[in-house]
Amino acid sequence: MSRADDIFVLFDKNTASNDHETTSMRHFFEDVPVDESTAPGMGGGPSFSRYAPSANEQPQPANATARHARVVALVSVNGGVGRSTLVTALSSGLQRLGQSVLALDLDPQNALNHHFGLNHALPGIGRTSLRNECWDQLVQSGFCGCRVVSFGETDIHQQDDLLRWLKQEPGWLAQHLSGLGLGEQDIVIMDTPAGNNVYLHQALEVADVVLVIAQADAASLGTLEQMDLLLAPHLERNPPLRCHFVINQLDETSAFSLDMLDVFKRRLGDNLLEVVHRDSAISEALAFGDDPLDNEAASMACDDIHELCRLLISPRILP
Ligand SMILES: Nc1ncnc2c1ncn2[C@@H]1O[C@H](COP(=O)(O)OP(=O)(O)OP(=O)(O)O)[C@@H](O)[C@H]1O
Ligand SMILES: [Mg+2]
Repeated sequence: MSRADDIFVLFDKNTASNDHETTSMRHFFEDVPVDESTAPGMGGGPSFSRYAPSANEQPQPANATARHARVVALVSVNGGVGRSTLVTALSSGLQRLGQSVLALDLDPQNALNHHFGLNHALPGIGRTSLRNECWDQLVQSGFCGCRVVSFGETDIHQQDDLLRWLKQEPGWLAQHLSGLGLGEQDIVIMDTPAGNNVYLHQALEVADVVLVIAQADAASLGTLEQMDLLLAPHLERNPPLRCHFVINQLDETSAFSLDMLDVFKRRLGDNLLEVVHRDSAISEALAFGDDPLDNEAASMACDDIHELCRLLISPRILP
């Protein structure tokens, strides 16, 4: 038995083998600490929020007849795998292919602000949503002509208020997206926070395609069952959410990483869309707020990202 076989046997067991375990898993990843007793309609008082808009004040009604933009959400259960980096690189790469791209940051960490080297003083969707205002004034210029809507700076109280509010308003993201006037020529690439949270669920509601980002290591492999659980309800809808996996930061000099990649390939089959190599130029771009695809000299990672962009816009992946 090869080393990869050993790893496969170790991790390919069904980690949610019964209802009890499934329930425990759901509770474990239910990491949004909402005190329902303070929510409106739940016996709560005015402490619900200093910022939350009233439920009958929507910024823009969703237009059911509008031709919607194509929406891609980058997700993962564990953090630090490269979602924000790939949102930035894919936005640049798809725009270079002639697509009309809008990168949207749904993560209060506000990482896209750093990745795109944006002005920190400008507001983003966090504070703007709490003021019940539209997002159309938030669009900033990204790399190669793509557009960016950042989360913006928020303090811990604003983040708590947003979490409570968004739990009450499952249509928040859909409504705000429809207010941006996007059409089917546009592609929205969304960054999401790691794990099971309200931003992830809203993203999955509106996404056509989800890219699950993983690293070729045991930590990412151990999250696959949990990701299956999170995605399952969205795979049943009509049309179903299309789900693909991307392995990021592959280190080809590490025999263990290659073994782990082998395990992922067997586990994911055709759902493994692309492998992006680890490349110091990618992390350096983040440090300087540069386009990660500008430094293309002998970069395998840039080649991988360009190939991922080509695959994404093929009819097989993005309708
Ligand atoms: N292909 C790559 N090659 C080299 N470094 C990479 C690559 N992809 C990501 N990184 C680096 O890995 C680190 C984590 O990346 P990133 O912040 O994009 O991950 P994330 O999944 O968005 O993390 P978080 O869960 O904190 O939001 C960063 O330092 C980034 O520069
Ligand atoms: Mg991130």
